[in-house]
Amino acid sequence: MRFHTRKWIKPEDLNANGTLFGGRLLDWIDEEAALYTIIQLENQKVVTKYMSEIDFKASAKQGDIIEIGIDVVKFGKASLTLSCKVRNKMTHETIITISNIVMVNLGPDGKAKPHGKTQIEYAVDRLK
Ligand SMILES: CC(C)(COP(=O)(O)OP(=O)(O)OC[C@H]1O[C@@H](n2cnc3c(N)ncnc32)[C@H](O)[C@@H]1OP(=O)(O)O)[C@@H](O)C(=O)NCCC(=O)NCCS
Repeated sequence: MRFHTRKWIKPEDLNANGTLFGGRLLDWIDEEAALYTIIQLENQKVVTKYMSEIDFKASAKQGDIIEIGIDVVKFGKASLTLSCKVRNKMTHETIITISNIVMVNLGPDGKAKPHGKTQIEYAVDRLK
């Protein structure tokens, strides 16, 4: 799993208990999954279709640095299934895991469209 994105927990990211607000974290994860999918599928028109159970294992507090990791579970026809783990950058304590996030590739008509991809591609290879 690659951890591409880091976030610094600020006052506006906290819930009423003074710890990281779950909704904020899901917002970051959804954006991370969308960015990952757009880059892999080389199409800006993608949507989140499904997320499996979300397991909040630990919290984070103001000032913590967290990192968001994404991995590919499966390339489908129009879909790309991802998994996600968020951990504390310093301690590597797991904050959240999501086993399956299904992203769907869309055509100009907004309907599911086969993406033709079968494996992870890296920028360094694409630029050769
Ligand atoms: C995404 C959307 C176009 C898919 O439409 P659909 O009629 O379900 O399309 P399909 O039946 O062709 O399914 C497309 C793919 O999604 C997968 N899929 C559909 N429903 C699923 C579900 N509940 N769980 C997991 N995967 C699902 C299918 O298996 C298929 O994968 P494959 O092509 O790799 O085999 C449509 O449901 C939609 O627009 N949903 C709203 C998305 C949205 O607004 N998200 C929030 C904002 S990003």
